[in-house]
Amino acid sequence: MCGIIGYIGKKRAAPILFDSLKKLEYRGYDSVGMATINGEAEIEIKKGSGRIEAVNEKEDFLTLKGNIGIGHTRWATHGAVEDRNAHPFTSCNGHYALVHNGILENYLELKEDLKKKGHVFTSDTDTEVLVHLIEEEMNNSKEKDLVKVLSKLTQIAKGAYTFLLLDAKNNIIYAFRKDSPIIIGIGEDELFASSDITSFLAYTNKAIILENNQLAILRDNCSIYDIQTGKEVEQEITTIDWTAEQASKSGFPHFMLKEIFEEVEISKHALEQDSLKFNGMIDVLSKAKKVFFLGSGTSYRACLLASIYFAQIAKKHFMPILGSEFKTYQNLIDKDTVIFAISQSGETADVLEGINIAKTKGARVVSLVNVIGSTIMRESDQYLTLNAGPEIAVASTKAFTSQVLILTLLAYGLSDRLKEGREHLYEVVRKLEVIMNQSDTIAILAKDVLNKNDLYLIGRGASYPIAMEGELKIKEIAYIHADALAGGELKHHTLALIEPGVPCIALVPNDDTKDDMINNIMQIKARGGKIIGISSEHLELFDYYISIPKVHLEPLLMIPVLQLISYYLSVIRGNDPDFPRNLAKSVTVL
Ligand code: M6R
Repeated sequence: MCGIIGYIGKKRAAPILFDSLKKLEYRGYDSVGMATINGEAEIEIKKGSGRIEAVNEKEDFLTLKGNIGIGHTRWATHGAVEDRNAHPFTSCNGHYALVHNGILENYLELKEDLKKKGHVFTSDTDTEVLVHLIEEEMNNSKEKDLVKVLSKLTQIAKGAYTFLLLDAKNNIIYAFRKDSPIIIGIGEDELFASSDITSFLAYTNKAIILENNQLAILRDNCSIYDIQTGKEVEQEITTIDWTAEQASKSGFPHFMLKEIFEEVEISKHALEQDSLKFNGMIDVLSKAKKVFFLGSGTSYRACLLASIYFAQIAKKHFMPILGSEFKTYQNLIDKDTVIFAISQSGETADVLEGINIAKTKGARVVSLVNVIGSTIMRESDQYLTLNAGPEIAVASTKAFTSQVLILTLLAYGLSDRLKEGREHLYEVVRKLEVIMNQSDTIAILAKDVLNKNDLYLIGRGASYPIAMEGELKIKEIAYIHADALAGGELKHHTLALIEPGVPCIALVPNDDTKDDMINNIMQIKARGGKIIGISSEHLELFDYYISIPKVHLEPLLMIPVLQLISYYLSVIRGNDPDFPRNLAKSVTVL
């Protein structure tokens, strides 16, 4: 979704903003733009719809002068994907330029009012209303103080409007947080403001994470105000332990492949949890009367898998709920409830909505996130982190693996079998490399067998949500219709679709699901379906076989196999696996 970046310092802003905008690309976008203050205290803007390289060919961003500027990647909500709807937008007097992340809900009503007051609009966006509204309120204010103006503006404007405002008269960048995150980067003689740490990680890893309703004023230093009290607040500088190298492809053709291969290392970090926090989490879960897992997309699949392992290992009934479906279950939430939110980004709007509802009902909120300082983390009473490093590819891979490892360890912890759990999980982690070493074989199989219009995946028990995650990945980046089923469901409907030659991926771990899986495979083979078996045992029934090592928690080793299958299918079909069409990395709208 939209990404914003601002720079103020001694260097030329345009090359830094350009570099940072490229780092924001992974969030998903359709337009891009930049504004700087040139030597004559004037704002210059270049922007357009399309990918940054294409817009740059026409606009040549690097010709923008000055050492103060803001940039934006737009993911269209209000107004079509057209040049005129790309950010930044300027005020009538030309003093301000603004980029925005969020949705200004009552923008139509505000726009009508501003038009009557003589403001002229050039786009269909909600964002342009914001810059004119600020101009109007600044003009009407005696003190010309944005802290005071914003305190009034937040009474008028409804919705989410985190923004950067370039003030050409005073050489200032204002950064305001209203619901979507904004982080201030503190470099040497330079300051950054961005929706995303990775966009300035190449320059600094020291950051201040703004709270809601805080305004940062960036000049040669940074001061932060709470616009509700009007007072300056103390700055808490966090050192982010991610590196710029982690946020680069490091020789891999795509971030996604790099991130799958990183699972070998980051899985160890996932299991190295701070024992105080980890035990604290076990304590909360063990005392709760009701626990609901909450997540979306891949993180929801982790919730599903966790609910199975918590049932099997810890004999606990923890219910998984989709972030977007939380409202349906809100009558079940009370003060004895724990909401366990799972999210890589920590910014998913559907999950945050659920958290907010749960809080009003007195529930306790705990979370498992990857991005430190994210909103979900900050909204939680307690949290654990994935320790997976930045995940850039839109398709979530290493985060999913980390999520399920940590959740499974928690299930063991809850049943007082932490030592046993660690042994089983480290056994899985040690064998991940064996899977990565088979990536060439998996690529060939993807090309020769799986590159069809329809694919089916079957699993039972813990393998079922893993099959669902495989289905999600194949659809998301290969754009192939895939369908994951619990093996036993086949005979109830989808067997009708099995024709000779249809490929079916069967997850057959060496556990108590194996015999039933064999029955299901027989049903598919009787209709001519082709079975691609993922198993530690080469069964005769398999038409094709992907071998995984024999371990106690075998389903977990099937995760990277399915991720690699989806990756190669995507590449074979000429797609860009890092940027699936219509999708964004951090889904901050409902
Ligand atoms: O950041 P989150 O884990 O909360 O994101 C949730 C989903 O948007 C995300 O998992 C999405 O489904 C991925 N693109 C799937 O690969």
